[in-house]
Amino acid sequence: MTDSRLTSSMARLLAVLEPHAVVTDLYSERGSEVYDAMTRGDDSEVREILRIGRRTEGRILELACGSGRLTVALGRLGRETVALDSSPRMLELLEGRAQRAGAKVLPVLGDMSAFDVDGSFGLIVLAATSITLLPPPRRRTMLEAVRAHLAPDGVFLVSVHSTGAYTGGAETRLVPLNADPVEVVILDEQVDSTAGHRDVSVLHLRRQAGVRTTEVFASRVNLLDETQLRAELSTAGLRVRDAFPVRLADGSQSLSMLECVR
Ligand SMILES: C[S@@+](CC[C@H](N)C(=O)[O-])C[C@H]1O[C@@H](n2cnc3c(N)ncnc32)[C@H](O)[C@@H]1O
Repeated sequence: MTDSRLTSSMARLLAVLEPHAVVTDLYSERGSEVYDAMTRGDDSEVREILRIGRRTEGRILELACGSGRLTVALGRLGRETVALDSSPRMLELLEGRAQRAGAKVLPVLGDMSAFDVDGSFGLIVLAATSITLLPPPRRRTMLEAVRAHLAPDGVFLVSVHSTGAYTGGAETRLVPLNADPVEVVILDEQVDSTAGHRDVSVLHLRRQAGVRTTEVFASRVNLLDETQLRAELSTAGLRVRDAFPVRLADGSQSLSMLECVR
């Protein structure tokens, strides 16, 4: 069970519940499925992205699109929409979701820190603070690629934690997924300001026909706030034209969406 990315609370919980549990990356094949189930009803950022997106023209590119929570809404704008992610399973889930919603989306398997997609885009989106998945050198190459793929009047929308939003502590949430079979997720987050990262542990519990299954997933992201991102955008030749708070599904507003142009 030893995985340095596990939060200390989750490590303790597992020591009691399932000491031999294997920890898997949150964006692995199975982790992608659990992430998809966890975020199915989450419409955070959708309203803000569509409001700006409707003012842009031309093709749309979403980086780190996941299973299409936002991509499907973008695809419904009726413009060519390319969705890039490094998880093949996420892209499969996205294709299914887009098909069911009647949205036309082109999935692309790739690394957002070194992407090269044909043509330019009127709108590039990187939401859900997924920029924090990249360490500083890869954020730099990602921002350079974004600039190279933006149409002259194109907009890059990126969400980030508002400055001062990191409390430095830990946070635990229980997310019910299903009633029958009963299925819940316990989500635990822990910030290590000294090391400069935030760990996310996800415990997926399911009971069916009297048998409980336990799965554990982990993800480590880098600490990055709006002030630091603004500096990195400027270095990459991207100008922040506007910034606004983002409404999250839980009602909190600790994120900022930055609207950037070349
Ligand atoms: C927090 S999820 C966000 C998914 C989706 N945008 C949403 O809002 O639900 C982060 C996504 O980034 C993907 N990812 C992680 N590292 C990546 C990389 N280097 N390049 C592209 N995608 C990456 C993961 O597979 C995952 O789907």
